[in-house]
Amino acid sequence: MRRQVWTIVAMLGLGVLALWAQGDASTPDCAPEALQSQQNAFAQVLTLDFVGNPSRALENLYRLGGFYQQMATRCGYQPSEEERAAAIAWVLSFASLDEIIAARAVGGDVDAVLAQLETIVGDPLNGQLLFTGQVAALDGSTLGCAGCHNGQTAPPTEGMWTRADEVRLKDPALAGYSIERYFVESILHPNAYIAPDYMPNLMPDIYGRQLDIEQLADLVAFLSSQDQLDY
Ligand code: HEC
Repeated sequence: MRRQVWTIVAMLGLGVLALWAQGDASTPDCAPEALQSQQNAFAQVLTLDFVGNPSRALENLYRLGGFYQQMATRCGYQPSEEERAAAIAWVLSFASLDEIIAARAVGGDVDAVLAQLETIVGDPLNGQLLFTGQVAALDGSTLGCAGCHNGQTAPPTEGMWTRADEVRLKDPALAGYSIERYFVESILHPNAYIAPDYMPNLMPDIYGRQLDIEQLADLVAFLSSQDQLDY
C-alpha cells in the first residue's frame, strides 16, 4: 500500500525532487520560514478547493506536485521523510488511492483511447521499462508483459509490429484495423481477438485499470519499435 501511494505521489511530482533539487537555497524566499508559510498558504487554498468538490481532487494533487517541483528547482528543497509521510496522508484524506488511480486510468474505451493517443508521443524506452517491469504502472504494480511474451506462453516480443502488420491484420476478423488499434485492443481487451496458436483467457484483462494514457502510449511505441523481420 505504501509503495503504491508513493508511486502516485511520485507521479505527481514529488519523486523527481532528488533529480531537481539543485536550486539556490540562499535566496530570501527560500528561507525555511518563507517556504513554510508558502506551504501553509498553498495547503489552505487546496483544502478550500477540495471541500465539497471532490472531483477537483486529482487536479489539485497535480498542483501540489507542481508546487513541490518548483520548491525543488528554485530552492533545492527536499522534503524530509516525515513531510513526505504527512503529504501522503494529507493527499489520501481527500481522495482514496483507488479513486485517484481510477481517475487517471485509461479505461476500456478503445475509440476514446485512440483519439487521445493522437495527441501524445509515446516514449519507447519507458515503454520497454514498463514492459519488462523495471518501471511501475499507475497503481504501483509491476506489469508482467515480458514474463509471458517469450514466444511460448505468449507471442514473442521480437517482431511484434512486423507480425501485426504482415500476419494479424491480414486476418479478415481484423479488417479495417490499424496496427495501433490492434495493439491498444490487445492490451485493453486481450480476449477480443485471440492470436492463433495461443490460449485465450491467459493475458490479464486489467491493464485499462493499471495504465494511464502516457504509459499506454509508451507501451504502444515500444511494441511499434519491434519491427524486426525475423519473428
Ligand atoms: C499471463 C501472460 C500474459 C501477460 C502478463 C501479458 N500477456 Fe499479452 N498476451 C498473452 C497471450 C497468451 C496472448 C495471445 C492470446 C491473445 O491474443 O490474447 C497475448 C497477446 C498479446 C498481444 C497480441 C500479440 C500478437 O502477436 O498478436 C499484445 C500486443 C500483447 N499481448 C501485449 C501485452 C502487454 C503490453 C502486456 C503487459 C501490459 C501483456 N501483453 C501481458 C499473455 C500475456
